[in-house]
Amino acid sequence: MSAPATSSPLPLAGGAGGGSVTDTGLPTPNPSRGREGDYRADFPALDEGWHYLDSAATAQKPNVVLDAIARAYGPDYATVHRGVYERSANMTLAYEASRKRVAGFLNAASEREIVFTSGATESINLVAESWGNANIGEGDRIMLSQLEHHSNIVPWQMLAERVGAHVDAAPLTAEGHVDLDWIEANITERHKLVSLAHVSNVLGSLLDARRAADIAHKVGAKFLLDGCQAAPRLPVDVQALGCDFYVFSGHKIYGPTGIGALWAPYEQLDAMPPWKGGGSMIDRVSFDGTTFAPPPGRFEAGTPHIVGVVGLDMAIQYVEGIGLDVISAHENATLAKAREALRGVNSVRVFGPDESMGILSFAVGDVHPHDVATILDEGGVAIRAGHHCAQPLMDYLGVPATARASFGIYSDDSDVAALVEGVERVRKIFG
Ligand SMILES: Cc1ncc(COP(=O)(O)O)c(C=O)c1O
Repeated sequence: MSAPATSSPLPLAGGAGGGSVTDTGLPTPNPSRGREGDYRADFPALDEGWHYLDSAATAQKPNVVLDAIARAYGPDYATVHRGVYERSANMTLAYEASRKRVAGFLNAASEREIVFTSGATESINLVAESWGNANIGEGDRIMLSQLEHHSNIVPWQMLAERVGAHVDAAPLTAEGHVDLDWIEANITERHKLVSLAHVSNVLGSLLDARRAADIAHKVGAKFLLDGCQAAPRLPVDVQALGCDFYVFSGHKIYGPTGIGALWAPYEQLDAMPPWKGGGSMIDRVSFDGTTFAPPPGRFEAGTPHIVGVVGLDMAIQYVEGIGLDVISAHENATLAKAREALRGVNSVRVFGPDESMGILSFAVGDVHPHDVATILDEGGVAIRAGHHCAQPLMDYLGVPATARASFGIYSDDSDVAALVEGVERVRKIFG
């Protein structure tokens, strides 16, 4: 994919599905839209012969994102929201255009519903500190599940500890989905929040989010969706999902690290107190008292991650240019081949449902997953081994760790072949 024009570089175009910016400032169609097949060439990190199967941890970055970052830190660099000089005004336009882009990406009603954060972890902590402190009290309950990432467990435990609330963990079905029947049967009016992963980072299982939202709302609880693994691999429509909060991280959708977003309906954000104080989040400061800016600025204290925001805009343009439905179909087809092939290998156990979303956890006999990953690495195959920041899930599965192969838009049949070959080598080495 060719990089956007560089002479007037800021990605000023707002809205979903737009393209890169020409030197007139107008969007051009993204050249990758509708393109089938080889996306590897867009990613300079993907050396010939290297098989990157750790996209669930973090995705590689396409050239257009790297170029956008370089321009934003280079010839375009200036602060936002403060400067009256032209470059700062342009950077502010780019920053706010990115907010609009994220709103379109999630089908939010307005860009005022998008708060930039450092990532999903910070987004969840924001909700726990701001909304949670104000709305969850002694004796209340928070419904999670056994497959949650630590980022969607620990902030709620900390909140529960602070206010005297209780955290519940819903079990999983035999397939590896959150057991919504169990939640429906066990949720009570003391539950003020249900917070679940849209897609599990270990099992790849996709939540029936609409049903979970309905169950939560029936008892008056709010519903948070952790979209970290969903946003990179399926179209997300927060209005159709019926959630009250949605969070994701930019680095998993081919964007920069250190940037992510929280979505919530504007009225919801407007009812929430700030959680961090500083510049930019205020209306007026005096020693008699301070008043706060309306959302989303109320939640963006200090100089923000300007370049991350600009890079995120380009990453979303990139994935929307390909189409989330195309990405989803491609990853799932590649994963299905890997699942099928690994199932055929003696002593390999695969975890999670058959139709897992781009993520495949497995074990090779009793071999420790770190040994599996080390041997695979010797063959140029990069997978993750460990607890994947989901220790309760490891306990639930009765394993200390798993090996995990996760796919991205650039994954192809050669990656699957190298993975299977590596697993065969593990078997040979360990007899
Ligand atoms: C499901 C899930 N939730 C939350 C996170 C935390 O994301 P981050 O570390 O980018 O804040 C991750 C990261 O792996 C994840 O997979």
